[in-house]
Amino acid sequence: MFSSLMGWIDARFPATKLWEEHISKYYAPKNFNFWYFFGSLALLVLVLQIVTGIFLTMHYKPDAALAFASVEYIMRDVEWGWLIRYLHSTGASAFFVVIYLHMFRGIMYGSYKKPRELVWLFGMFLYMALMAEAFMGYLLPWGQMSFWGAQVIISLFGAIPFIGDQLALWIRGDFVVADATLNRFFAFHVIAVPLVILGLVVAHIIALHEVGSNNPDGVDIKKFKDKDGIPLDGIPFHPYYTVKDIVGVTVFLFIFSLVLFYAPEMDGWFLENANFVPADPLKTPLHIAPVWYFTPFYAILRAVPSIAGSSFPGVVAMGLSIVFLFLLPWLDRSPVRSIRYRGIYFRTALVLFVISFLGLGFLGTQPVTPIYTLLSRIFSIIYFAFFVLMPIYTSLDKDKPVPERVTFK
Ligand code: HEM
Repeated sequence: MFSSLMGWIDARFPATKLWEEHISKYYAPKNFNFWYFFGSLALLVLVLQIVTGIFLTMHYKPDAALAFASVEYIMRDVEWGWLIRYLHSTGASAFFVVIYLHMFRGIMYGSYKKPRELVWLFGMFLYMALMAEAFMGYLLPWGQMSFWGAQVIISLFGAIPFIGDQLALWIRGDFVVADATLNRFFAFHVIAVPLVILGLVVAHIIALHEVGSNNPDGVDIKKFKDKDGIPLDGIPFHPYYTVKDIVGVTVFLFIFSLVLFYAPEMDGWFLENANFVPADPLKTPLHIAPVWYFTPFYAILRAVPSIAGSSFPGVVAMGLSIVFLFLLPWLDRSPVRSIRYRGIYFRTALVLFVISFLGLGFLGTQPVTPIYTLLSRIFSIIYFAFFVLMPIYTSLDKDKPVPERVTFK
């Protein structure tokens, strides 16, 4: 019965063809390791955010007079509302943990290099869409940090010469962050940006499956095939990697549950304390800081000195810090992909880059002091040097010979 049903469907829709092409006959390198868990985990968290988001929308009110109370209502009165809300707010931070590890894997194994440049670019557009999604979502509870965080970030657009003020006004829809801003952020957060994210995820995976996955050795598994055209170092995604990914999902859900049930606000790191006070346009909080996943870029913004009272140079630096990530496939001149066979220059540069990114992340959460400003400047210089000097140090590096085949034991 099943095969005749599938025959009926296949004559009308390529169900079996798609299943084989992307799952049961998609040959992935046999040496995937820990770092390859995070793509499927990103998919899992994306689904979690969409499902919990739909349920939150059933009780949330996108109105400056009602929003804060509607979130409290969800937390206190709606059956299981607290769980849905914490799944969504903790899920947002989990998303960035997963994505940062996923991106780090890409850099470590040179997965952005030819022929996967478009996989990387779609990934970077996803990263930008995720940042926009998180930023707009954070305004919705209409707490003090929602309001003042949005106020600070939108005013950055005001620093752009000539058009800045008009642009900031256009984004807010009012002279300050107000009901109009809340309404449009709600529209973008619940439908516009999620649609873009879903489309980009499809493009990301189609591009990946067109060229095939990279692997921790960075070798091209399509070079050696058996008589049926199957890569010698490849194994079918299903059942091998579906089973592996289930292990990843289980461990992830265990850790996620611990955070969710015991420290959902993570002591102010996932939901800031000031956000449990309703937005008050007349009372600026003493210390405004974005949520942890934005703080490296916020630290870069603050590290660059203003010129004639304008923070435009900082805004440019912050923009460039993202632009350089887009350019990675073209900045890296090494013929070798994986860090396993790279020379000492790239390895050292990557370690320094990670230290500076984490350092900036910490500094972005702290109030400004002279010593922290100095440190932010040093870390920002290292951050940019990683990219700007990359064409030089990757050309000079003494890379090791890359094996022909996967060295999996
Ligand atoms: C919603 C966000 C994202 C989802 C759902 C997602 C999903 C996936 C999946 C399922 C894979 C294949 C499995 C794996 O290699 O782990 C993958 C691979 C990849 N992703 Fe993402 N991704 C996302 C964001 C990103 C971002 C932000 C980047 C980098 C800027 C990125 C770069 C890559 C690269 C380079 C690969 C190929 C890795 C390799 O073959 O070694 N992805 N992604």
